[in-house]
Amino acid sequence: MGTVILGTGSCLPDKIVTNDDIAKIVDTSDEWIRTRTGIRTRRVCGQDEQTYNLATRAARRAIAAAGIGVEEIGLIVVATISSHTLMPSSACLVQKELGATKAFAYDINAACSGFLFGIDLAHKYVQADHGMKVLVVGAENLSSRLNWSDRNTCILFGDGAGAAVVGYRDGASGYLGANLRSDGSLWELLYMYAPKSSNPDITHEDHPGTYIIMEGKEVFKHAVKAMEDAIHGVLAREGIGLDAVKLLVPHQANIRILNKLAERLQMPADDVVINVSEYGNTSAASIPIALDEAVRAGRIQEGDVILLCSFGGGFTWGATLIKW
Ligand code: ACO
Repeated sequence: MGTVILGTGSCLPDKIVTNDDIAKIVDTSDEWIRTRTGIRTRRVCGQDEQTYNLATRAARRAIAAAGIGVEEIGLIVVATISSHTLMPSSACLVQKELGATKAFAYDINAACSGFLFGIDLAHKYVQADHGMKVLVVGAENLSSRLNWSDRNTCILFGDGAGAAVVGYRDGASGYLGANLRSDGSLWELLYMYAPKSSNPDITHEDHPGTYIIMEGKEVFKHAVKAMEDAIHGVLAREGIGLDAVKLLVPHQANIRILNKLAERLQMPADDVVINVSEYGNTSAASIPIALDEAVRAGRIQEGDVILLCSFGGGFTWGATLIKW
């Protein structure tokens, strides 16, 4: 189809928070967190670090890897559920920081699936205009959206950003297809309210705060099944067998979800990119960070078929197939 990822980049904040650090805040332990989630550490934004700062750093690396100038970028899409400002979008702040004056820019919200939804959007723009280059960023400052007294959630998430420049190359296979899904009827299993209304006539008795709230066990069950179905769906549609897939780059929710998914797909552990132990769950940033690390480690070579898959709040989920 000709849509290709021209370059990737990522950025993690310097500050490392260990499970022992969290055990000083809530009633938990390193042992519990490691065995239930596989997470050992996560990165957390510093005092003056915001979502758009991480997004901009990841974007600069992706643009450098793509070998293009910022003036060539026609569109910036930032996938996030933790923008520093609701208005302007994180994408507009990234545009300002980069000096990408030719681009228009906006955010999308598809929770942990945001990067896959963003890449699909970019693909459509690029197919409509072969000269278009789209910067897609997944960026989160989730530590600012956690209830740090809720041990069900505060152990799971981390901050970070990942980016990709999407463009067109004549004759390339590139983006093969995606199977993207949503089911809003299940929203109450994983959600985060918007800030309280400032309308004085509105009471806020039922507002739990602008924090992530989750039914962990239910999310777990839905996540494994949904990602497995999405993967089989996109493979069947494109007529490609799982044995042709070199690498699976899944959303890094937790190790037990990833192991269960690999087991159901009968994929060897070595063919699955996993970094959740270091970074925790970084929502929209998790897939582009894992993708960038796999590219830089030489795990993805030209011609390789790779699968990306996600599951997140909404619910939103999907699988994307790319020939590198
Ligand atoms: N430390 C110690 N004990 C804890 C903690 C904690 N951090 N959290 C919960 N517990 C306790 C519970 O209170 C409960 O105690 P009880 O038996 O006395 O009531 C016990 O541990 C078991 O709790 P469960 O919720 O049943 O624990 P479970 O084994 O399901 O593990 C977990 C919880 C890790 C959240 C799991 O359900 C999970 O991984 N779910 C997937 C959620 C996820 O990944 N969400 C990310 C967002 S969505 C996405 O990205 C896909």
